[in-house]
Amino acid sequence: MKKLMAANWKMFKTLEDAMNTAREIVTGAGRLPEDREVLIIPPFTALKSVGEVMAGADNYFLGAQNFYPSEQGAFTGEICPEQLADLGADFALVGHSERRHVLGEDDEFLNSKVRFGLDSGLRVILCIGETLEERKDGRVREVLDAQLENCLAGVDRKLGPENLVVAYEPVWAIGTGEVAENKDILEAHKMVREKMRELLEKADEMRILYGGSVKPENCAEIISLDNVNGVLVGGASLRGDSFSQIALA
Ligand code: PGA
Repeated sequence: MKKLMAANWKMFKTLEDAMNTAREIVTGAGRLPEDREVLIIPPFTALKSVGEVMAGADNYFLGAQNFYPSEQGAFTGEICPEQLADLGADFALVGHSERRHVLGEDDEFLNSKVRFGLDSGLRVILCIGETLEERKDGRVREVLDAQLENCLAGVDRKLGPENLVVAYEPVWAIGTGEVAENKDILEAHKMVREKMRELLEKADEMRILYGGSVKPENCAEIISLDNVNGVLVGGASLRGDSFSQIALA
């Protein structure tokens, strides 16, 4: 299974900055090893231009951070999968912790996004993860199971392995510099794999990414862990040199 190394730029970067960073990544990481794929997830405003920078680079993909689960319609301020595909996006994030916790999106809404996104042909990256309080209460498995069950409800059990990626991102490790310990990552990824197997026939062929304060210094170790099939990187993906190192770690 190829490792997916994903850069989530969140609400950072002007158009020019985004294009420059994408250029640095494509030249810095260059021709990727056989077992790697790179995904850049810029803000909507830079999707088309970053896609143009990556055009022709093998195994580089473009992703969107969000979408609204509907066809074109009267939803002021929203963007639909058809519009994303039109700009060249292959992947889209669903349920990033900032959307759950800052923008108030719940599992029911996220489920409608997963289903609509998949039906529209997007490759969905479903993000899940527990808060610090939930971890302290010993509820990690319960929380991850519930998020997976709720968000994947109604998804075809025979879904192709290329269509869905799950990103495990402990909320307390996002943007905090706090990385989960290897044993916690191993344990959580095993739980995720087990639940996915219950829900999806091709679960073993689907990728599970780890996210939360990944940087060049810790990336190689994290991606060597069982059931870790790539990373989702925020802060350390904003600089081309730093993310190029991560992509090749
Ligand atoms: P971080 O963000 O790498 O800055 O912790 C990860 C994410 O939000 O996906």
